Amino acid sequence: MAQVLWSGRLEEKPDAEALAFESSIAVDSRLAQEDITGSRAHVAMLAKQGIIPAEAAQAIDTELGRISRELAEGKISIDQEAEDIHSFIEGLLTERLGDVGRMVHAGRSRNDQVAVDLRLYLKGVVPEIAEEIRATCQTLLDLAEQHLETLMPGYTHLQRAQPVSLAHHLVAWTAGLERDRGRFLDALTRLDECPLGSGALATSTLTLDRYETARGLGFPRPTVNSMDSVADRDFALELAGACAILATHLSRFCEDVVLWATEEFGFINLAEQWSTGSSIMPQKKNPDFAELIRGKTGRQIGNLVTLLTLLKGLPYAYDRDLQEDKEALFDALDTARATLRMFRPMMATAQFRKDRMEAACVGGFLEATDVAEYLVRKGLPFRKAHEVAAQVVRDCGAAGQRSIAERTLEELRSRSELFDADLYEVIRPGTALRNRSRSGGPAPEAVQAQIAELRRRLEK
Ligand code: ARG
Repeated sequence: MAQVLWSGRLEEKPDAEALAFESSIAVDSRLAQEDITGSRAHVAMLAKQGIIPAEAAQAIDTELGRISRELAEGKISIDQEAEDIHSFIEGLLTERLGDVGRMVHAGRSRNDQVAVDLRLYLKGVVPEIAEEIRATCQTLLDLAEQHLETLMPGYTHLQRAQPVSLAHHLVAWTAGLERDRGRFLDALTRLDECPLGSGALATSTLTLDRYETARGLGFPRPTVNSMDSVADRDFALELAGACAILATHLSRFCEDVVLWATEEFGFINLAEQWSTGSSIMPQKKNPDFAELIRGKTGRQIGNLVTLLTLLKGLPYAYDRDLQEDKEALFDALDTARATLRMFRPMMATAQFRKDRMEAACVGGFLEATDVAEYLVRKGLPFRKAHEVAAQVVRDCGAAGQRSIAERTLEELRSRSELFDADLYEVIRPGTALRNRSRSGGPAPEAVQAQIAELRRRLEK
């Protein structure tokens, strides 16, 4: 077992199994580079403030630079028995520089160190996830542009409701994803403050310059309060929340995909590459990727609940419980990225069965609302128009007809004198789509405007 940093106080150490239990290195070694970056800024500030000699700071900086390179090149293997990544790197520095290495931790605690490492890491990773979301939105919008005229039923209660287009449906998904991107970027603005200099909880008697360290690390300012700095993990909650909401969106999209891929719907053919077979049923082509993306949502909600439960009831300021934050947070971010990277090509390579979608627009009386609104345009109060259209639907049912278009004008007029031959055009699915040209609606030009608006938002 590597030397622990606190061996001066305690004569007896926990045994190997107990040390392994309290070690976080398996999880936090991914913070190695951020840890080094934070230490370099801290050391530069210590020298500038005359807390350590300039030559010592120079030597530490050079050695940390070397350690960083060696880690990146895989020349250093991280000791899995170290207590955490902070101890490991400080231990390495001390091994190489002796007493000079021992100067690095002046005015610092692992409590503010891990807080700054995490924030630096997130400042790198969160924009990457936002970019994955942006790319996913672009894929969906590109697809939508090809399907402005592809008719399909829109559903409420999973019952055919009114005709929409595939483009309208895909843009509905994208609108949610665009907000997801906003949630990630928004969380980033709040976490962009530097906790370094907070020390264990109460800063330091050394003349640290927190503004200097914040500047050196590219934060716009230091955090407001040192106790908050080491206790706060609400940035982790926000991000795990953003991940859970994103996952919930993807889960719903994938549920649509799974339904569409059934023989019953037959709206989509997933590429073979994005499907799996069965070990027993030779005919099977299963939408496992969509199902797994849906399934990962349970885990993402779990990650959020893990973090909320971890924090609830923790007394201020730092508690070791906080070490448990990283596994859930890293998993949430990894899973968010992985699911987006699967969802995007799965959708881009899918084939949409326009014939099946269009055919599904006939037979469920999706035109009934159009009939009612036709009567409204002729002056009938809506509630009466609704009743007439409902009677017409019932008449069709009694006559075994699948569509109001199958009724003769005479039959229709028996329900209302207001019906004319122009009704037949109004209830054609293509016309019904084009007539819904309000802002936000499914008509091709309306969807085109939605696509343009979302593309504009995604540029920001
Ligand atoms: N590995 C620890 C964490 O992730 C570092 C902080 C340890 N601090 C302490 N006072 N024991 O939170």
